[in-house]
Amino acid sequence: LREQIIQLGPWHLEVKVTDALTTRTALDDPDAMYPESYGPVTFRSPEESFKHQMLRVFPEGLAGRAVLDCACNCGAYLFWAKELGAGRCFGFDIRQHWIDQARFLQAHRLPPVEDLTFEVCDLYDVPSLGLEAFDITRFGGIFYHLPDPVSGLKIAADLTQELLIIDTATRNGFPDGLLYVCEEGTHLMSGVYRLAWLPTGPEPLRRILAWLGFPHTRLEWWKTETAEQPAEMGRLELLAAKHEQAFAYYDSIVASRAPQ
Ligand SMILES: C[S@@+](CC[C@H](N)C(=O)[O-])C[C@H]1O[C@@H](n2cnc3c(N)ncnc32)[C@H](O)[C@@H]1O
Repeated sequence: LREQIIQLGPWHLEVKVTDALTTRTALDDPDAMYPESYGPVTFRSPEESFKHQMLRVFPEGLAGRAVLDCACNCGAYLFWAKELGAGRCFGFDIRQHWIDQARFLQAHRLPPVEDLTFEVCDLYDVPSLGLEAFDITRFGGIFYHLPDPVSGLKIAADLTQELLIIDTATRNGFPDGLLYVCEEGTHLMSGVYRLAWLPTGPEPLRRILAWLGFPHTRLEWWKTETAEQPAEMGRLELLAAKHEQAFAYYDSIVASRAPQ
């Protein structure tokens, strides 16, 4: 398993494979060499924060809710959603590299889980898959890799009944409320279209989300400095719901983050 993890690298997310082994093994191994064309791949371990976040919205766990993960990378969040009791789960990513990792994890993690599917797919092609709606959708690390992020987010929102989780890089140095146009490369962690837009804060996301039928939002956090990104970029995470009621428990425990 260790050799396969190294072969399938680089990995972006730390996922437990067995009690003794996580995908971090590829990071720590001096023999793990990957083509330069892959570009830089940051490594993160967000399992605990994701689970904690979900339990702050759904204190009883996900209770069979269907979950969609857009640009799912190695599928990490869906494995963790399953551990919290999710029902049908679907993850897609435009790159075979990441879906190979997701399928490896699915084949080797214990206990095996049912009703979890991964596909290589461009976000813009998702409507042609004819998917049934989901209760919860994660839109993490994808908004700022799209030439038309409004249409991209609309595709996710149209498939979502209850809660959207949006995590995006932001652009510092401009008033909130703007989308800052830029170009990016096409390495493993990027988009494929080169043209991209960075929100200058949560405001453009709130306005777009309200227009898409998700008027209730909670800003989880917004940092103007991060260890992993260039100085001009920040990052934020926002929750959005169709109905205020979705945040009843969240608001009761996160007093300092009352409705925004
Ligand atoms: C910054 S990573 C974020 C990965 C993961 N969602 C997370 O939150 O850690 C960006 C991911 O988006 C994928 N991606 C980029 N453009 C895409 C597109 N048009 N459709 C689907 N996936 C895309 C990349 O292959 C990569 O896995």
